[in-house]
Amino acid sequence: MHLVATAAAALLAIPGAQANLNQLAKAAGKLYFGSATDNGELSDSAYVAVLKNSNEFGQITPGNTQKWQYTEPSNGVFSYTQGDVITSFAQANGQVLRCHNLVWHNQLPSWVSSGSWTAAQLTDILNTHIASEVGHYKGQCYAWDVVNEALNDDGTYRTDVFYNVLGTSYIPIAFKAAAAADPAAKLYYNDYNIEYSGAKATAALGIVKLIQNAGARIDGVGFQGHFIVGGTPSQSALASVLNSFVTLGVEVAYTEVDVRFSSLPATSAGYTQQANDYAAVVGACLAVSKCVGITVWDFDDKYSWIPSTFSGQGEACLYWQNLTAKPAYYKVQSLLAAAATSTASTSTTAPTSTALITTTKPSSTSLPTTTKTTSTTTPTSTSTAAHWGQCGGNGWTGPTVCASPFTCKEQNAWYSQCL
Ligand code: G3I
Repeated sequence: MHLVATAAAALLAIPGAQANLNQLAKAAGKLYFGSATDNGELSDSAYVAVLKNSNEFGQITPGNTQKWQYTEPSNGVFSYTQGDVITSFAQANGQVLRCHNLVWHNQLPSWVSSGSWTAAQLTDILNTHIASEVGHYKGQCYAWDVVNEALNDDGTYRTDVFYNVLGTSYIPIAFKAAAAADPAAKLYYNDYNIEYSGAKATAALGIVKLIQNAGARIDGVGFQGHFIVGGTPSQSALASVLNSFVTLGVEVAYTEVDVRFSSLPATSAGYTQQANDYAAVVGACLAVSKCVGITVWDFDDKYSWIPSTFSGQGEACLYWQNLTAKPAYYKVQSLLAAAATSTASTSTTAPTSTALITTTKPSSTSLPTTTKTTSTTTPTSTSTAAHWGQCGGNGWTGPTVCASPFTCKEQNAWYSQCL
């Protein structure tokens, strides 16, 4: 890690140079910064050119094709062809795999969800499915989301076929089967709306204890991180919840992050808020040493799941659909760079810059016309911005002068940064 950190520091010392998200996350002590993807997206060459850059995304999660409906569409009939496309892509590009998912009420074929099972039959079905799928991917997955979204938002258990037939016992059954099939894979419980304190987070803590008390192995908890612009908890609130899970002896990760606008079009102030919301999430992970990484639920608005699920909402990703980076991207990059620099300053290993690359500065003319604005706001602050800090952009009211020896460089119309 020190070598990576000092290499990042060497690059960051070059005026105007920038590193990519994964290399910065690793230099800051994390295992990865990653993205979900899906099979259909891999025919988009411009998108793939970004996704396959392991300096940018060092980890991949298959967004759909490892789910039960794809991998065991009929009882005892297994198909890994589509999932293998994603895992092969990640391996070809030197990217870590988070495998997703084994037991979920959704995208579950009707032969499972509509069957009239005895407890013994459904236990066999679970064991067979998990043994086959985890066995197929054995040695390839850094982590498996073993059980996904077992809880309702009020903290009660979701009454799907697994709970209705087996009660809570299906959860340790699933974890034991996964552990037997791949002893090296980290086994995660994964859910949304557990990122902040409340009944659901408390119930998720209960799931960790339930698994441990049953003598099964659980290694991690995944916090999906589907947030809303302006409604994202603070960094400290997020970190506090992460720590409450770490206390139980598990690692944690943000596994499906996006921050959507609840109404569109987005405003200039909205993009600034979105950047701050992403920063709260990334900052929380940086603040908790057992938070191993951050995965965005795709990096590009073109392939976000939000518009099809939440009508009229969207623009949730780090990149616009034309593959230019948003203010949120630069904010996350700054935060990771600052953490990498601080990690490197404690290292004694000789720096090297050979592993690092620069990003291309996006042109402001490539921003979507629907979000472009020519208005600027007069800065109200006279203080100076620190290295990596924001120093300009539409709607920016903070400092526009950088602390010596850094200069303010425009990244796009929305974001200038002290480099
Ligand atoms: O593949 C079919 C295609 O043949 C068909 O023409 C098309 C018509 O609608 O549907 C396609 O399937 C869609 C599938 O994604 C693949 O694109 C499904 O309709 C659609 O419902 C499905 O949505 C996925 C969703 O899970 C299902 O709940 C999203 O892509 C996927 O990103 C999303 O991921 C989940 C995580 O697994 C768990 N956490 C929440 C997250 C977001 O919902």
